[in-house]
Amino acid sequence: MSSQTDVRRVNLTTLQKMKHRGEKFAALTAYDACFAEMISSAGVEVLLVGDSLGMVLQGHDSTLPVTLDDIVYHMRCVRAGNRGALIMADLPFMSYGHEQQALDSAAALMRAGAHVVKLEGGAWLANTTSKLSERGIPVCAHMGLTPQAINRLGGYRVQGRDTAKAQAIIDEAKLLEDAGASLLLLECVPVGLAKTLTETLSIPVIGIGAGPDVDGQIMVMHDLLGITPPGIKVPRFVKNFLVDAQSVRGAFEAYSEAVKGGTFPAPEHCFL
Ligand code: KIV
Repeated sequence: MSSQTDVRRVNLTTLQKMKHRGEKFAALTAYDACFAEMISSAGVEVLLVGDSLGMVLQGHDSTLPVTLDDIVYHMRCVRAGNRGALIMADLPFMSYGHEQQALDSAAALMRAGAHVVKLEGGAWLANTTSKLSERGIPVCAHMGLTPQAINRLGGYRVQGRDTAKAQAIIDEAKLLEDAGASLLLLECVPVGLAKTLTETLSIPVIGIGAGPDVDGQIMVMHDLLGITPPGIKVPRFVKNFLVDAQSVRGAFEAYSEAVKGGTFPAPEHCFL
């Protein structure tokens, strides 16, 4: 598939301008060319080649077994189908344990077609973030619930509920913005904390289970289509858009419109 017929091209400046205008943007995971074409054509601004592929494609019970080669492979597939969306790719577990490893891993993803790399963690990633960004590799910091740390966190739980932990997330997010992060992804945090961060930071904030007051929303594609791997509990923040749509393409369009129109997420998808 060629990208010569792209009608729009989303980049970081597009998202930054949307934030300033108060316009919401939509993001969704994608792992192959066919779905990348459908999702980007449906008006979704950002595609994420997420390490969630370990759970929804490979059938693992966490994202930890996913390798850099896995993400590179799916990154190439998504690039082939993309119609002008910004493509973000996950640096998988232990592919950015130290700065040189992060540079090498991120370079592999950029060569495969990523526009932004996403890293899970807080203050400990400040130097890595500045090294990547100095070398022209845009970084999305992923904070709140960080699934690669599931064994330390002890479960898929809401993060930042008490004042001290919320303040730590705010301080570390500011540190990463100052270090050069271009985006922040917040997973499973209370609505109020996400709102404060979105108002405090100048970079766009993308939320999943973070309430309606962030700049953009993201979901795992399989969740949006009501496909849940066996044995996995459907999280509160998930909405199945396929039930009311005529088609898969229609479900992606409905999601994009609901995010932009502010009807998703609704209160039942949020944590207080
Ligand atoms: O890997 C992934 O799909 C993610 C989402 C949960 C945002 O990081």
